[in-house]
Amino acid sequence: MDSAESAGGRLGAVLSSPRSGVVALGPHGPWLTTTPDQARQVLTEVSHFDFPGDVTRSGDLSASRGDTRSGHAVFPPLQPEHVARGLAVFTSEWETAISSHDRATQDEPYDAMLLLRRPVARATTSAVLPSVDLAHRDLVADLVLAWIDALAPVIAARRPPRRWSRTRRTERDARLALDDALADIPDLNGPPQMAATMLAAGIQVPIAAGAWLLAWLASNPLQDVDPVEAVWETLRLTPPTWITARITTRDVDLGGQRVPSGAVVLVSPLLLGRLSELVPGDPDGLPGFDPHRWRSGTQRPGAWLPFGAGPHACPGRHLGMALLTHLAEWGLSRTLSLTQRVTIDQSRGIAPLPCRFMISEGPEPVR
Ligand code: HEM
Repeated sequence: MDSAESAGGRLGAVLSSPRSGVVALGPHGPWLTTTPDQARQVLTEVSHFDFPGDVTRSGDLSASRGDTRSGHAVFPPLQPEHVARGLAVFTSEWETAISSHDRATQDEPYDAMLLLRRPVARATTSAVLPSVDLAHRDLVADLVLAWIDALAPVIAARRPPRRWSRTRRTERDARLALDDALADIPDLNGPPQMAATMLAAGIQVPIAAGAWLLAWLASNPLQDVDPVEAVWETLRLTPPTWITARITTRDVDLGGQRVPSGAVVLVSPLLLGRLSELVPGDPDGLPGFDPHRWRSGTQRPGAWLPFGAGPHACPGRHLGMALLTHLAEWGLSRTLSLTQRVTIDQSRGIAPLPCRFMISEGPEPVR
């Protein structure tokens, strides 16, 4: 499996930058925070650090302009009963996905990024839209997946695609189809665009996180691993939202460094998760997957902000943790092995590509 330490691109540039205060990655920024205090300041001081209006380059995607001081809607956290509902759906859909694979293509490797799509999409949709009937939930889940797929080339493009390009039109059609399906839901809490954003964030990111988890378990067969610690270790080494940006609204002092108004400031949970002050264990071993390190209890998992912080912190973190913990329990009761080298796709957050694995030992599959 390729390591983030040897990655090129933006990820490589961030990881190889000096870890001393706020670092300018180019002559005029962006500016990278490299300490936990600076990262918290950027994510929590919303009057100085604004949420970028259009992080996905999809114009009116984010339902986000105008109604808070930082210009971005605030998403209420999912309630425990909705998390429980999402988890129940994921548990049964994951079993179905595995057994359908086994029936159709026994002896073929499992493709984690494909296999996780429907279970995660249906689980998150059930949690976010608890009142919809099953048929409508499945329709919405499929439409969110279609929108996520259509957004991928928009986000990955070097230059923003033109408004009337095929890429944009495909994305727009997918989004409008989803908006229409959401508008039919009578007790939707807020505008359809806001529900669409919640669903897309709550499906795309856990798919990548789940695939990373399976990749780590398959490449590190360990004994007596606590599933929750395996999840934290995955979110430490390969947080799917590995970097996030804010824009300064005025000249600011960040750890003694003056950053001008209008500058992009970056916070990287992936970088913070490699700081020895936040992670127990031998500093030289920090790039390695070792869930046992969290047993010492000397440091609190999550201090590297894999779910963000402040008003824009992840509203679905409890659902994300619940799904990943279930997946870790599943993976840890089997012996998984990768069938191909995993590389790091940086086109949208980070995702393991390809992520194909076999099960060599464990409970008999349900057929
Ligand atoms: C392992 C799973 C997940 C991880 C690692 C994760 C990570 C994150 C991070 C780091 C942010 C903050 C981004 C920033 O500050 O710019 C965020 C925001 C967000 N997440 Fe998650 N997330 C996960 C699961 C979910 C789920 C399940 C949902 C919905 C059900 C969700 C919905 C959102 C939304 C709507 C935002 C934007 C919040 C805002 O802008 O105010 N996420 N997530």
